[in-house]
Amino acid sequence: MTTFRIAPSILSADFARLGEEVRNVVTAGADIIHFDVMDNHYVPNLTIGPLVCQAIRPHVQVPIDVHLMVKPVDRIIPDFAKAGADIITFHPEASEHIDRTLQLIRDNGCKAGLVFNPGTPLHFLEHVMDKLDMILIMSVNPGFGGQSFIPQALDKIAAVRQLIDASGREILLEVDGGIKIENIAAAAKAGADTFVAGSAIFGQPDYKVVIDAMRRELAS
Ligand code: DX5
Ligand code: ZN
Repeated sequence: MTTFRIAPSILSADFARLGEEVRNVVTAGADIIHFDVMDNHYVPNLTIGPLVCQAIRPHVQVPIDVHLMVKPVDRIIPDFAKAGADIITFHPEASEHIDRTLQLIRDNGCKAGLVFNPGTPLHFLEHVMDKLDMILIMSVNPGFGGQSFIPQALDKIAAVRQLIDASGREILLEVDGGIKIENIAAAAKAGADTFVAGSAIFGQPDYKVVIDAMRRELAS
């Protein structure tokens, strides 16, 4: 029986009240906090860094999943580990040495993952499966919340599910971008077990109503 995890992206939260927002979304049933880091270089947007991660850390007991959309990637990793990140993922295109970056994340005491954009091939997985705790499939091009789900991501999720099952390892399969009540079941059916949702949750007044509805879809 698969354990499904809901990971609200705080990109769509009210940053003026961030402590309250993360507490509320965890009370509403979030399993993980998804933390989107954008550098206006690897992606065309600029968001939040280790200081904000450190600021929210005391407000939540659940894991903080740091999605790095930055280039270069290595030098910021120790700062996020010190700031309380539990999981750190990065895009293979943003690292000169993927194996080294994965090892660096682990050496800093965090779980490590690779992120695949809609146009990024899966062959980057080939030699590093044993260093992965998470694989994140983007179902939008990275940079902004509130975009529409790209349906081709479903085939990619299914392909990664096969690779994970064949590896026999415990690797979370996360999907990120345009996830809503209406499409979460399709992503689960393809093989995802961890679901990032930003605008679908923070865009509604009652986070619990949305998260409960997502869980009902996952149970159906
Ligand atoms: C996009 C980010 C996503 C985004 C998801 O680059 O990685 O985490 O915030 O937002 P929604 O759920 O609104 O697509
Ligand atoms: Zn993300």
